[in-house]
Amino acid sequence: MTNDLFDLSGKTAVVTGGSRGLGEVCVMALAKAGADVAVCGRKIADLERVSGAVKAVGRKSGGFVMDVTVKASVRDCVEKILRKFEKIDILVNNAGVNHRVPVLEYPEEAWDLVIATNLKGYFLVAQAVVPQMIDRGYGKVINMSSILGAVALPNQLAYASSKGGVDQMTKVMALEWAKKGVRVNAIGPTYFETELVAQLRNDPERFHFINERTPMGRWGYPPELEGIVIFLASRASDFITGQTIYIDGGWTIW
Ligand SMILES: NC(=O)c1ccc[n+]([C@@H]2O[C@H](COP(=O)([O-])OP(=O)(O)OC[C@H]3O[C@@H](n4cnc5c(N)ncnc54)[C@H](OP(=O)(O)O)[C@@H]3O)[C@@H](O)[C@H]2O)c1
Repeated sequence: MTNDLFDLSGKTAVVTGGSRGLGEVCVMALAKAGADVAVCGRKIADLERVSGAVKAVGRKSGGFVMDVTVKASVRDCVEKILRKFEKIDILVNNAGVNHRVPVLEYPEEAWDLVIATNLKGYFLVAQAVVPQMIDRGYGKVINMSSILGAVALPNQLAYASSKGGVDQMTKVMALEWAKKGVRVNAIGPTYFETELVAQLRNDPERFHFINERTPMGRWGYPPELEGIVIFLASRASDFITGQTIYIDGGWTIW
């Protein structure tokens, strides 16, 4: 057995929400493993910064403006990516938002935005990208879920609902495409320090709760996500589909 199993040379990846945070970690992990990467998000300056970093490690890249909640934006962006790269082998559905308030105070608009971004957005992007994977008989879809797809915490109404939905969506997609060469899996991270969770990181009580609740006693370090992304994108995981793999320091053990 050699590291060739994890080699992504010649592959093209698309990462939504690749402009910062965990998406940026995925972009750079895939690039370092050999893939060309299309970086998608809404802010051009961030997209250019990350795609510049991909080019600096010797891969092809580009920043592409995509709002995952808008079907026309998704279609237009995927067309542009296919014109530049000709194919997409790996899709990382990662763009995500959160809004934390108790259920009885939860604004309808916040519910709609979280569900549109974290759940409907994944389906819209997969629907645009996967047909050309099926045509070529090979592809990898990686959906960024969360421990909150499996466990509940207060103030996480729409977010936890969206991530539970992502886990189920992953299974349905995996089933439908199992004989067509497209594998679909999800990653379920615990808390990693990014903008999305800065509010919790800066709250000593919440920070302490998360450390205490985690068997390994700490938050995740963003680079600790790299291995699972490369694994699920590569030949090494070719007989795995429909799974959510937790990267959580043991949180979901109990
Ligand atoms: N950080 C954690 O602890 C943690 C834990 C478990 C799961 N996750 C999941 O990991 C993923 C990334 O989270 P993160 O922590 O890296 O968040 P982040 O730092 O806030 O980054 C979110 C990314 O999503 C993009 N985005 C948001 N809305 C979008 C839209 N409508 N269309 C396109 N792109 C959009 C943002 O780019 P623009 O704003 O420029 O568009 C940004 O690139 C999410 O799915 C999140 O649920 C995170």
